[in-house]
Amino acid sequence: MTDYEHHEYDVLIIGAGGAGLRAAIEAGQRGLSVGIVTKSLLGKAHTVMAEGGMAAAMGNVYPEDNWKVHFRDTMRGGKYLNNYRMAELHAKESPERVWELEQWGALFDRTKDGKILQRDFGGHRYPRLAHVGDRTGLELIRTLQQKVVSMGTDVYMECKVLKLVHDPNGRVAGCVAYWRPTGEFVTFSAKSVILATGGAGKSWKFTSNSWEGTGDGHAMALWAGAQLIDMECIQFHPTGMVWPLSVRGLLVTESVRGDGGVLRNSEGNRFMFNYVADMFRAETAETEEEADKWYDDHTAGRRPPELLPRDEVARAINAEVKAGRGTPHGGVYLDIASRRSPEFIRRRLPSMYHQFMELAGVDITTDSMEIGPTCHYIMGGVKVDAETAATLAPGLFAAGEVAGGMHGANRLGGNSLSDLIVFGKRAGMGAADYVESGQAATTLDMGEVEEAVKEALAPFERTSGENPYDIQRDLQEMMQTNVGIIRTESELEFAATELDTFIERVKNIAVKGGRAYNPGWNLATDLPAMLTVCRSVTRGATLRKESRGGHTREDYPAADPAFAKFNFAHSTNGGNWDSPFDTVESPLLEMPDDLKALLEEDH
Ligand code: FUM
Repeated sequence: MTDYEHHEYDVLIIGAGGAGLRAAIEAGQRGLSVGIVTKSLLGKAHTVMAEGGMAAAMGNVYPEDNWKVHFRDTMRGGKYLNNYRMAELHAKESPERVWELEQWGALFDRTKDGKILQRDFGGHRYPRLAHVGDRTGLELIRTLQQKVVSMGTDVYMECKVLKLVHDPNGRVAGCVAYWRPTGEFVTFSAKSVILATGGAGKSWKFTSNSWEGTGDGHAMALWAGAQLIDMECIQFHPTGMVWPLSVRGLLVTESVRGDGGVLRNSEGNRFMFNYVADMFRAETAETEEEADKWYDDHTAGRRPPELLPRDEVARAINAEVKAGRGTPHGGVYLDIASRRSPEFIRRRLPSMYHQFMELAGVDITTDSMEIGPTCHYIMGGVKVDAETAATLAPGLFAAGEVAGGMHGANRLGGNSLSDLIVFGKRAGMGAADYVESGQAATTLDMGEVEEAVKEALAPFERTSGENPYDIQRDLQEMMQTNVGIIRTESELEFAATELDTFIERVKNIAVKGGRAYNPGWNLATDLPAMLTVCRSVTRGATLRKESRGGHTREDYPAADPAFAKFNFAHSTNGGNWDSPFDTVESPLLEMPDDLKALLEEDH
């Protein structure tokens, strides 16, 4: 048996984005020892890609806003597939969590009378996104990071976790990882483990996710005995850059539309008016001004059609391009230049302005952007208990994007940052309670550790075989084409067969060189998780024979009420990355009548 570098904690957190950091603060404040492991660097997480704000019904701009309206919007946005209790807790607790951030030093934009300013985003009845220009995720990370560092929490950066490890009684007891700079292995044992590993967008060709978004946490939870739900529900953010190539996939924050930007097709038309609900569609306006006015009259002046929920806007863009009204590079135009002054744009959207000027030579104060849907977020994730964030694997907790249920079939923009802080805190509480309950594990099953190490080193043993980058490229292409924004039975069946072939290809990867800073090897260790995610997404998408939120079936274009009663839940028997998994219909929680009544109300 090899001796590995080893560390022990009461609470081990995997992932250093908003949820992981917030959980660390909570558990640390309970007096427990806390370690954070991240394969990336502290301060660099997909959290920063939620640029436009965090949704919280504080009522600073519209006093009539409150948690009930936020709850209703979230459930409607999620097409009622949400874990209602998570949506309820989120709506009730997010204002408190935002004020807490302010106390910890977050510098939010202000209203004229000095309150936290709230901006408009799709699917929210009232402007309710607390924001810091278009850098809100960054400010959230900066604030939490400062707090975590000031508490003296241990942070292990560039440390890639391979697998969760159980104790001899089957409780999650820690993990095995390796240092990216050296390739040396390290084990962590903990009385409880919180997954806060974020999303999985890196398996699609066009994505706002950076290299970290490989679904490690989703896969590790499944392998460790937890369940994954709603994996078919993937959010394609409507506005990712499609051109120039230097910025392809990069997010253009929804704030551009929230602050007045509009979408146009190649004929210069604001096509979103053609996609609003039937009652509106019957009306036509001769000019853009008339259309604007007509829409305002019908929506109490609050909701331009560009601010429909993301799934609806993304599908509309897709349809325009398919109908031959797209831009030369297969997108549509996002125009704020003709709607707002350069001074306004630079003040409200400083990152957008600088980033596209520097990286792409596009001046958004004078030019339209060429944009199209980009894979941004996965609504599906690890099944958790709403109150405690506990998964079905004893000792394992999950919060943030890796957890499923909160957003149902489609997430409203701005609801992810508030999700991170509400459920990050709850995961910290849940894990701490578990530690204090005395049921927690401490001994690692070293057999599991050795097996994971052996598997990770296997690509070095082969003198010839597959290049991991070829597999990644082919996987992204295959998922984008067959399990993308619009799906059909035949494509999904093809994808499922292809994924079996990918499993064999991954088993045949060969890498050269040493273990220190070897990106090919690092990718080889990500691919099993990517395949697990892709298989569960494809399985769910095949079974869900309807269209709902972030899951659109061309062959079943309407929502079917029969599918609104359960989530598809996946689990594995045995936990190897290539094991078959079982999928069951897991009934949704029954919502109490008082909450049901809220869904009917026209606030
Ligand atoms: O468009 C955006 O700023 C993204 C926000 C989000 O995903 O919540």
